[in-house]
Amino acid sequence: MTTYARAHTNIALIKYWGKANRKLMLPATSSISLTLNDFYTDTAVTFDPSLNDDRFMLNGEEQNPVAVSRFLDRVRHLGKISTYAQVTSLNHVPTAAGLASSASAFAALATAASRAAGLNLSPTELSRLARRGSGSATRSIFGGAVIWHRGHDDASSFAEPLAIQPSLPLRMLVVTVSAEKKAVSSRKGMANTVATSPYYDAWVASNESLIEPMITALAEDDLALIGKLTELSSMRMHAAIMAEEPPFTYFLPETLRAWQLVQEQRALGIPAFATMDAGPNVKILTTEPYVDILLTALRPVFGDRILSTRLGPDASIITKE
Ligand code: DP6
Repeated sequence: MTTYARAHTNIALIKYWGKANRKLMLPATSSISLTLNDFYTDTAVTFDPSLNDDRFMLNGEEQNPVAVSRFLDRVRHLGKISTYAQVTSLNHVPTAAGLASSASAFAALATAASRAAGLNLSPTELSRLARRGSGSATRSIFGGAVIWHRGHDDASSFAEPLAIQPSLPLRMLVVTVSAEKKAVSSRKGMANTVATSPYYDAWVASNESLIEPMITALAEDDLALIGKLTELSSMRMHAAIMAEEPPFTYFLPETLRAWQLVQEQRALGIPAFATMDAGPNVKILTTEPYVDILLTALRPVFGDRILSTRLGPDASIITKE
């Protein structure tokens, strides 16, 4: 029997960057994200006794199944089975967005594979399981505004929706500066920050101090404060990255151009706030009434390389006819 699941990607407002425990995938700080509606992964899992190894197809192409297989080992351990599986995934992320995300991938895989293995995990257990595949996947089990509690062991490091969700009509614009594969993966990038950046400890302390204010700002629909904290977390993360040995940055010239446009719009009274992950693309947080104004301001430079999305739902099992 084949089990299908869908999980949506998420963008962190308060970033996760650095592990306290690499084996258990425990983060150095808690993080807060928004799950996005229009970018998601659909994954089908079939445990098949006729297979001699795990197989993984992504967007119609056979992949090296090593990372998927390691993750399935954990699922097999929990489900007390030993069968290999066929995993088939489709990323519903416009390829040009450069958003191909391990978050939606491992959240969908955790949801589909655990069910296919006969497990009926709670959302918290699913979130802990997804964490073992990729940190950011911990949060993609849930829709809306989500917090990942860093925790101190396997049981205490999981995500959950914020108790008080923002009621603002939040929107995220994704500006594609480059659709190419990341120069340095998040996994390697954050390991290098931990190992070589003299600002790493300051990053951890300052980022953790943004968590409580962000929870309050989201609960109070304080867009200016949500935006300010979002930019602080992102820029501090990138500052810690720039100070690595050898020095490194994900910024490209057009990344700065997008930041500049956001600042210009803000000076005109438009609530727009920029954040970046492990790549040059810029995500802009705003609310629904300002989307068209921002698109008009950004299009002369970025043309149709801008997508707009609202907040998305929980990961779920889907039924196929
Ligand atoms: C910059 O979750 O991709 O997007 O845990 O090693 O798989 P691993 O890394 P990953 O890192 C995400 C980093 C980030 C910030 C964030 O999503 O919080």
